This record gives sequence, C-alpha cells and structure tokens, in this order.
Amino acid sequence: MHTNCILVTGAAGYIGSHTCIELLEAGYHIISLDNLSNSHSIALQKVQEITGKTFPIIEGDIRDKELLDQLFNNYKIDAVMHFAGLKAVGESVENPLIYYDNNVKGTIELLQAMQRHHVKKLVFSSSATVYGIPKEVPIDETHPLNAINPYGQTKLIIERMLQDIAQADTESRIALLRYFNPIGAHESGKIGENPSGTPNNLMPYITQVAVGKRQELSIFGDDYETVDGTGIRDYIHVVDLAKGHVKALEYLSDYKGIEAFNLGTGKGHTVLELIQTFEKVTGKKIPYKITNRRPGDSAICYANTTKAQQTLHWKAQFNIDKMCQDSWHFQTNNPNGYE
Ligand code: NAD
Ligand code: UD1
Repeated sequence: MHTNCILVTGAAGYIGSHTCIELLEAGYHIISLDNLSNSHSIALQKVQEITGKTFPIIEGDIRDKELLDQLFNNYKIDAVMHFAGLKAVGESVENPLIYYDNNVKGTIELLQAMQRHHVKKLVFSSSATVYGIPKEVPIDETHPLNAINPYGQTKLIIERMLQDIAQADTESRIALLRYFNPIGAHESGKIGENPSGTPNNLMPYITQVAVGKRQELSIFGDDYETVDGTGIRDYIHVVDLAKGHVKALEYLSDYKGIEAFNLGTGKGHTVLELIQTFEKVTGKKIPYKITNRRPGDSAICYANTTKAQQTLHWKAQFNIDKMCQDSWHFQTNNPNGYE
C-alpha cells in the first residue's frame, strides 16, 4: 500500500508480460490488471518465475469502474502503463463496435479513474498504424496521422483524446509509444507471443509452420516496389520494445506534457528476408506460396528512431537473427502455447 507502484493494464498479453519483467528488473513495483480475453494468467506466473518477484495479479476489465476505484484506493499508483486493448485489424473491420467499446470506452474509463485519483502519468501503447499508408520512409513522429481501419481509428482517437487532456491539465505526463512490428520473445523461452486461432501476423505464422501446426505460409504479394517484391517492415525485438517503456517512464518523471515516440529499429526487412533468416538460424524450412496482396497493407514501413534515441536515450539492440532465434525458442518450448 505504501510503496509507489505502476498499474499495468493488459499485463498478461504479449508486450505487457515482457514489459512487466523489465519494470520488475528495474526495481519498480507493479500491479497487473487483465481480463484475460486474449491471454493466459500463466504468462504472469512465468514473469514471477523469471524475475523471482511477486506482485498482485488482478483479473478484471478496464471498463469496470468499481474495480478501478478499488485499485486506485488500495494501492499507491504513481503511473499507468496501458496495454489493454484488442488488436486484430480484420476483426475490427467486421465488428467495429467491439473495438470502440473495448479500446476507446475502456481507455475513457481508465482515464476518468486516473483523474478521480489524481494520477497524472501514463504510457500508452499506440501503433505505427496511426501513420496510415506511409507517405515517405523512414517515418518520423511528425508524419501526418491517418487511420485506415477501425483498429487504427481507436489508436488515433485515443492519441487525440490524450492530446486534449494534456492541454487541459498541464500536470499531465503522457508518452504515446508508436510500436512498429514487435516479434521475438524473452530469452528464457518461457513467455512469448501466444495468439489464439490463426495468427494474423507474420512471425507467429512462420513459427507455427516451422513447428508443423500449419502447412505453409502465404506471402501476401510479391509485386511491391521492393528489392524482392515482398513487403518491408521494421521488426523489433519485444524485449527491446519493453525496455523502451522503462525509458519512457523514467523520462516522464522529469517531463510534463505529452510526447509521441516511434519504437522501432529504423531498419526495414522484406518478408522473404525474414523467412531466410528464420531458416538460417533454426535450420527449419518454411514452405510458402505467393498469394494476393492483403487489403490495407503498405509496401514499405520503417521508423525514424532519432527522437527516441535522443530524448529517451533508448535504442533497439537486437537484430533479426536474435528475433528469429527467440521466437523459435518460445515456440519449441511451448508447441501448444500456454495450454
Ligand atoms: P495482447 O492481446 O497480447 O495483449 C493485450 C492484453 O490486453 C491481453 O492480455 C488482453 O487480455 C488484455 N485486454 C484486452 N481488453 C481488455 C480489457 N477491456 N480489460 C482488461 N484487459 C484487456 O496484445 P499485445 O501485442 O501485447 O499488444 C498490447 C498493446 O499494444 C495493444 O494495445 C495493442 O493494440 C498495441 N500494439 C500491439 C502491436 C503488436 O504488433 N503486437 C503493435 C502496435 C500496437
Ligand atoms: C499488421 C496490421 C497493423 C498492426 C500490426 C501489429 C494489417 C493490415 N496491419 O501490420 O495494423 O498494427 O499488424 O499488430 O493487418 N504477411 C504475409 N503473410 C502473413 C502475414 C503477413 O506475407 O501470413 C506480410 C504482410 O503483408 C506484411 C508483413 O508480412 O508485409 C508483416 O505483416 P504483419 O505481421 O501482419 O504486420 P503489419 O502488416 O505491419
């Protein structure tokens, strides 16, 4: 009750669980809140195992006002790291209201609770998706913002809400972290990305083909204007990303206002390069076929990371070899996910 702590929403998820480790290892006390709609509580047990530290694990929803009041009353919460949200683009197109309710309404409930309890510090999980189809690369934080699907809209709406809040309350301390493409897993192989159903994203699809759960990968288009015709993305190791959150939190202890930061490596790789690297470091062959482009995909997307380097003193360390190795390590340790 008397120690300052960080409330981590969506803590059991892929990025949240990795960030919990980095926070604990940096000496922070945390409280995890997750409704487990897209995750498993085992991930949090593993976080405790890896760090040798315990923390309160609350199963609940960010839209539950009474629960939030209870948490803010019972613990001395100094800052919130807000990962909780739904993230499947296709699902958001089919069922936009679920996304607006969970992501936007959920964030409003959380922000209102923070306001009631005078908590001013927030680190928000935004996404490179707020840049829409990039007009130029590398993308810096001044690139125009544009959402091209309901999931992206929710991130953009939340960013804009937070800008307004920072204007209205000059004591606010807010970091908008725009993630590029997180892949990889904690070195222990104990936690990692554990999607339910068919993976939407490239790396979990590759690892599931490699482990024999799926027959072959579909590459969404090989006629883009890139070296080999396949799409280019800025893949970043999830542990580097997690460390960026700790840096953002440190930054907010001396900064009032709101700032957006790209968290990427600044390097782009094609789909075929990622597959070749995966095959090289794991010795596994990834059968694939070329299919149509996926609607809404851009050809090339990678970050200018100067702002995060200069302001947060953070820079990604791991290359795609290490990202592939660690993704594979988690997949082989957990062939059926956390079940
Ligand atoms: P994830 O699905 O693994 O984690 C999100 C967690 O939030 C899950 O554990 C889920 O159970 C929980 N959650 C969802 N709605 C909730 C609610 N209403 N109340 C309480 N808990 C709730 O996803 P992730 O990859 O770890 O992403 C974390 C955040 O980062 C999300 O906001 C996502 O939109 C954002 N993001 C992710 C990526 C990516 O590629 N993974 C890229 C950009 C941004
Ligand atoms: C996708 C989302 C984006 C979200 C991000 C992180 C879309 C249109 N974009 O981004 O909004 O922020 O995930 O969750 O869904 N690819 C294949 N075969 C596959 C899967 C992917 O070839 O089975 C290709 C894609 O065309 C792309 C690259 O691999 O070129 C990376 O895809 P993915 O991992 O889905 O990330 P993004 O498309 O960047």
